[in-house]
Amino acid sequence: MKAVVYTAYGPPDVLQLKEVAKPTPTDDEVLIKVQAASVNRSDWEILRGKPLYARIGGLLKPRHQILGSDIAGRVEIAGRNIRRFQPGDEVFGDILGSMGGFAEYVCAPENALALKPASMTFEEVAAIPQAAVIALQGIRDKGQVQPGQKVLINGAGGGAGTFAVQLAKCYGAEVTGVDNTGKLDFLRSLGADHVLDYTQEDFTKNGNQYDLILDLIAHRSVFAYKRALRPNGRYLMVGGSVATIFQILLLGPWMRRTAGKNIRLLAVQPNPKELVFITELYEAGKVVPVIDRRYPLSEVAEALRYLPLSEVAEALRYLGEGRAKGKVVITVDQNNHT
Ligand SMILES: NC(=O)c1ccc[n+]([C@@H]2O[C@H](COP(=O)([O-])OP(=O)(O)OC[C@H]3O[C@@H](n4cnc5c(N)ncnc54)[C@H](OP(=O)(O)O)[C@@H]3O)[C@@H](O)[C@H]2O)c1
Repeated sequence: MKAVVYTAYGPPDVLQLKEVAKPTPTDDEVLIKVQAASVNRSDWEILRGKPLYARIGGLLKPRHQILGSDIAGRVEIAGRNIRRFQPGDEVFGDILGSMGGFAEYVCAPENALALKPASMTFEEVAAIPQAAVIALQGIRDKGQVQPGQKVLINGAGGGAGTFAVQLAKCYGAEVTGVDNTGKLDFLRSLGADHVLDYTQEDFTKNGNQYDLILDLIAHRSVFAYKRALRPNGRYLMVGGSVATIFQILLLGPWMRRTAGKNIRLLAVQPNPKELVFITELYEAGKVVPVIDRRYPLSEVAEALRYLPLSEVAEALRYLGEGRAKGKVVITVDQNNHT
């Protein structure tokens, strides 16, 4: 089969489209013919081997030679212990633990997958798993958003942020989306009530306070976040700098006790029931996966370069090049997109 392979951490140039052996499923796995995969920041981090946590299980060399964790495709073989799926089923899910989605075939455990509804394309469901589950657990489960509450989403124009804006609106919140100048109209079109340009304004310094801050790209001090929270407000860090992670781990419990402000990390747990829940919201017309660009399997390196904040994209920023709004999808089987 064709796959995009790498054997050493590095920039997208280390990726090579190669012929490799088709994987064989264990008794607890299905073999999937991949139709579409989507690109996440986690792919970028594991490609570069940075930050250091991206090297877990592979300090010097990548643990998995094929990236790609958000996948959608057709079950070709179901292992002996598989109960929920059979050959021919159309499925999607997040296989971050084993990766391998940037290929024509991949093996996946049953508990990572959900059935694709007939109403959605493979590309649409491939855009869901990691980003939408982050958003759902941040807004509904840990954020416990109630109607009328003020919610701020930092990094609202990226993969998880575009789902978070739509979900926060579903739960009746007044939503502020923060992202760069070029994404503000886009955020309004998703339903954001207010938008802030992070290149012009620091949301922790303008005097506004929120019931929930969902931070996809945290890099400030915990004291700044505390200032931007209402009494009893919650701050959830999803991604960002290692320094902010340490501050939250050290000072978060103390701030909860002394100031009643709930400042925590959000550790996302993949859950196929939540994938189904998102597809139900799609069918009810409440949430749509936003796909900015599609690339063929042979252009995975280009797709990674188009991600926000990748090092190449960061250089292009000064040339006025656009970067991804929402998700970037890899179409693997070009003959069959639905
Ligand atoms: N906690 C967990 O369990 C868990 C699990 C999986 C993933 N993650 C993390 O979750 C995050 C998911 O993010 P994503 O996939 O939505 O990322 P993304 O698609 O890269 O989106 C990030 C957005 O933030 C914007 N941004 C950049 N700098 C900013 C700033 N200073 N202030 C405000 N916005 C800024 C980016 O825009 P530009 O175009 O301007 O760069 C982009 O629109 C990642 O950090 C990932 O590592 C966490």
